[in-house]
Amino acid sequence: SNYEYIQVSEPRPGVGQVTLNRPKALNALCTPLINELNAALTEFQSSPTVRAILLTGSQKAFAAGADIKEMAPLTFSQAYTTSFIESWSNLTTGALKKPLIAAVSGHALGGGCELALMADIIYCTSSANFGQPEIKLGTIPGAGGSQRLTRAVGKAKAMELILTGKSFSGEEAERWGVAARSFATYEELMEAALKTAETIAGYSKVAVMAAKEVVNKSQDLPLRDGVEYERRVFHSLFGSQDQKIGMKAFAEKKKAEWSDE
Ligand code: HXC
Repeated sequence: SNYEYIQVSEPRPGVGQVTLNRPKALNALCTPLINELNAALTEFQSSPTVRAILLTGSQKAFAAGADIKEMAPLTFSQAYTTSFIESWSNLTTGALKKPLIAAVSGHALGGGCELALMADIIYCTSSANFGQPEIKLGTIPGAGGSQRLTRAVGKAKAMELILTGKSFSGEEAERWGVAARSFATYEELMEAALKTAETIAGYSKVAVMAAKEVVNKSQDLPLRDGVEYERRVFHSLFGSQDQKIGMKAFAEKKKAEWSDE
């Protein structure tokens, strides 16, 4: 595929990778870049080979935000009538059922931080530079930051971060539960992210998709409904071949050969 602002590859068996590639603007997320990202993820979602997706930027910048130069002249009516930013949510509306891992190095600011927060798992370098600096530009987060960051770190910290625009490090992101893990170097980050993607890609596609679905439900449902939802999906997996294959392989001390059925 021919993209201008991203690169697409399959670096490991079962792993599809999107690399944001707009180095001159530190991967600022202009609308054409987001359109390309959506197209690439849609392709990976329907790909028969891709089972887990890695989203990354460069060592210097995951993404330095939405494109400020694109936003500067927008009027209310233009933003409203074109539903500006809404297409970013394609990542999270349920169309992307395969797991998405964000590997974050360098700047993940504003929309870049929000894009990372849309992923299922964040890995980062300890020195990564996360933040929601929109307040400094006279605006607020617009791609879910006020909601997802608050769920991740709690109201006290989220309110401080969003009202001051202060950055937080990758090390803090891990400590606060925003990132699953942080790494001392860029090389360690990328290797670990690829390895985790490959590990997930090695499991039953049906079980992986169900696991992602039920964890994400926890963000939308009250506990009792969430537990009931999980149990329904858990019950339904007794209708899959892979549950039989996985448990039989355990009993026989063999490696499971998934059918994806
Ligand atoms: C457009 C950007 C950009 C952005 C950087 N650039 N961030 N262009 N939109 N968000 C461009 C710069 O203009 C510059 O272009 C080039 O990238 C390199 O950036 P420098 O500033 O020269 O680099 P450096 O000195 O290393 O500083 C890095 C930085 C800084 C600290 C990340 O670039 C910065 O503060 N960027 C803006 C961060 C931000 O406020 N993000 C939130 C945006 S609002 P030229 O042409 O001069 O070389 C937002 C709204 C979200 O995201 C709500 C909806 C999604």
